[in-house]
Amino acid sequence: MTPSSTSFAVTENADRATPEQITTVLQDPGFGSHFTDHMAMIDWGRGEGWHDPRVVPYGPLQLDPSAAVFHYGQEIFEGMKAYRHADGSVWTFRPERNAERLNNSARRLALPELPPTMFLDAVKELVAIDQAWVPSADSGETSLYIRPFMIATEEALGVRPSNRVLFSVIASPAGAYFTGGLKPVSLWVSELYVRAAAGGTGEAKCGGNYAASLASQAEGIENGCDQVVFLDAVERRYVEELGGMNLFFVHADGRIVTPELTGTILPGVTRSSLLELARERGLQVEERRFTIDEWREGAASGEISEVFACGTAAVITPVGRLAWNGGEVAMPGTHELTMSLREELLDIQYGRAEDRHGWMYQL
Ligand code: COI
Repeated sequence: MTPSSTSFAVTENADRATPEQITTVLQDPGFGSHFTDHMAMIDWGRGEGWHDPRVVPYGPLQLDPSAAVFHYGQEIFEGMKAYRHADGSVWTFRPERNAERLNNSARRLALPELPPTMFLDAVKELVAIDQAWVPSADSGETSLYIRPFMIATEEALGVRPSNRVLFSVIASPAGAYFTGGLKPVSLWVSELYVRAAAGGTGEAKCGGNYAASLASQAEGIENGCDQVVFLDAVERRYVEELGGMNLFFVHADGRIVTPELTGTILPGVTRSSLLELARERGLQVEERRFTIDEWREGAASGEISEVFACGTAAVITPVGRLAWNGGEVAMPGTHELTMSLREELLDIQYGRAEDRHGWMYQL
């Protein structure tokens, strides 16, 4: 383990899960429904700064019902994973990107920035104490999902930046994000709602963006789809992203297109890593605005051969069908490039391939 430079007070969980209980959970962890024995916490106060770093037993938070997070959604979060390599060591992927994005989100939500070393130290402390929850290297593609988050805790109903904030890290063993494992997902084009508009919070990782996606997500499910795809707020023509994943379009001539980061799209760490991996393969990669008609027509004509969604939780997921009010287009295919990029990324993350970019960080 890499030593931590922040000194965390540790309160052990006297009720830790037994090794047998952990083994049972790790056999089929699902996504986001089991949590490890501890959580890391750091408080912030205006005029005091960050203080009182600690690791405590995992459990409910006690907050005043008037705490700002409950009323005005002053909240941000991150998503990362810890991977066990064959030699037993535990690693995470490009954590400095998450630390940086958390601070970008913090500025947008008028929350305090957290020194990146504290961010990393909180992750390290939690994974160190709960390392029994990191699945073994031979357990397929399971990992320990890490969820850092920051919330406004001050009791006040006035609409203003909170004077008290909590940063916390929790962790949850994770298998496939989608129930049913890795199979192509179907997407519903939301015509009623948008996810984000220019100048809004689209590129921040804040709960409000995800809350805003839920009604469309429900509409997609009512229409027999797994996920919803959002279009831009102005012209309702340009493809943005899913509720929590970026999109890539693979063309039959080898070109790969992904929507450019216009301020309304989350700058995914998986997205930027895949762009690098694809460029290194000599593929022509375009970050540009991409219309829903290009997608519909390209998929129907065969010009678009594969579409995939990506994010930390779901890694890379092939898209098999696009549906909208009045039509649909199937993208059956072999998802060959999708699966090969997926494997390349996972091989780096699980230490099965050389980490030539220096992306892995030993916890
Ligand atoms: C992640 O991929 O880590 C996210 O935060 C997205 C969410 C849909 C789980």
